[in-house]
Amino acid sequence: MKKRLFIQTFGCQMNVHDSEQMAALMGQHGYETVADAADADLILVNTCSIREKAAQKIMSQLGRYRSIKRSRPETIIGVGGCLAQHLGEDLVTRNPHVDLVFGTHNLHRLPEMVIRIEQSGEKVIETSLAPVVPSLGIRVAPRENAISAFVTIMQGCNNYCAYCVVPFLRGPETSRPGEDILNEIKMLVDGGIREVTLLGQNVNSYGHTLSPRTSFPELLRGVGRIDGLERIRFTTSHPKDLSDDLVRCFGEIRSLCEHIHLPAQSGSDRILRAMNRGYTSEEYRNRVKCLREQCPEIAVTSDMIVGFPGETNEDFQRTLDLMETIRFDNLFSFKYSERKGTAAVHFPDPVPETEKAERLETLQARQEGHTLEKNRDLEGRLVEVLVEGRSKNSPDDMSGRTRTNRIVNFTASADTVRKTVPVRIERAFLHSLRGKIEHLGGVC
Ligand code: 5AD
Ligand code: SF4
Repeated sequence: MKKRLFIQTFGCQMNVHDSEQMAALMGQHGYETVADAADADLILVNTCSIREKAAQKIMSQLGRYRSIKRSRPETIIGVGGCLAQHLGEDLVTRNPHVDLVFGTHNLHRLPEMVIRIEQSGEKVIETSLAPVVPSLGIRVAPRENAISAFVTIMQGCNNYCAYCVVPFLRGPETSRPGEDILNEIKMLVDGGIREVTLLGQNVNSYGHTLSPRTSFPELLRGVGRIDGLERIRFTTSHPKDLSDDLVRCFGEIRSLCEHIHLPAQSGSDRILRAMNRGYTSEEYRNRVKCLREQCPEIAVTSDMIVGFPGETNEDFQRTLDLMETIRFDNLFSFKYSERKGTAAVHFPDPVPETEKAERLETLQARQEGHTLEKNRDLEGRLVEVLVEGRSKNSPDDMSGRTRTNRIVNFTASADTVRKTVPVRIERAFLHSLRGKIEHLGGVC
């Protein structure tokens, strides 16, 4: 009989993909995924520790699994990902019901560690960071009927932004060989995948550690030549490494979607310097200008941190100025969260939390206006939608995404799923668009 696995994932797309890899690995060892933790023989919590709030949420969730362990002591509870890497043995001291702690470089050994616990009943804690990251090569077969898939192209980060724990928890930057990546994508396309998202902490520096050295644009061109692959996306880009060659790719590669996620973090040069970001707000503006000259349709989204230590009201105004000139299609904004081990811990921070919270509210309200405005610009326009399935909110409708990554709902038959259809946008909302399908089979 198959054993049952429940995975709970916190954090970024990278973590979502790591969880898919965990499910694939355990699947090869007789585990099937179930939807309820209470039914599981193995519960895995894949964690994030980028901000304190995320870490707290995970700790309280772990507490809830204590009652499952009490009623079914044979259930194995494992914790992986960034928080596991960060806390190591401490996690078990604070949560004695946890059997397994595995760090960001130990995912490939998951089955072996679970078997060890099944056989010995001992706890396993494995958080060593390796110079090569074997989990980079783990392949995940596409889920049944899946349209899109994640593909990891690199792991880790060498940038040491002053606020960020990632380089400490995911280790130094390691790129996966291009051939390996292309073969995986071909396998995914053969399995029915139409869209891939290439994942890495800073995809723009992909290939610099490989021998022979290669580059992200070169990889993209290779992916662009794969027959049957409709759409390519990637995340995340660092503005300081966004080359002219990458900008050119947006004009060259038909399957490369017109969207870039380009975290700015701040609009103040003083704060950008303190953050160790390696660019000025002017350089950031210039990069976006080049992208828009090459590809006028491109959607630009970003991350912004408010309340970085010592951020004055003037600095914050510079961030709002940047938003006004760029007019991001969407923005993910965060209140600065102090993380142990990072450089910013030592920076003086006289700004009260209440003021930081107010700044975040101001910024988010401003962005909502911009997002809505950008969405409304599409009213009356014809867009290409890759249909994913039925709409969540209105099951009679179909739902898909534009190449710029906007959700579009429209009335159509279920046989449009997996197809690219032209949709005329009729109404724009903050989080989605509503449209009318124009005719089937064509691509606008
Ligand atoms: N505090 C707040 N936001 C953070 N981010 C990373 N570290 C922190 C932190 N300590 C944000 C950055 C990054 C995104 C993934 O998370 O904006 O781009
Ligand atoms: Fe963190 Fe900066 Fe690396 Fe991004 S580039 S993962 S923010 S250190």
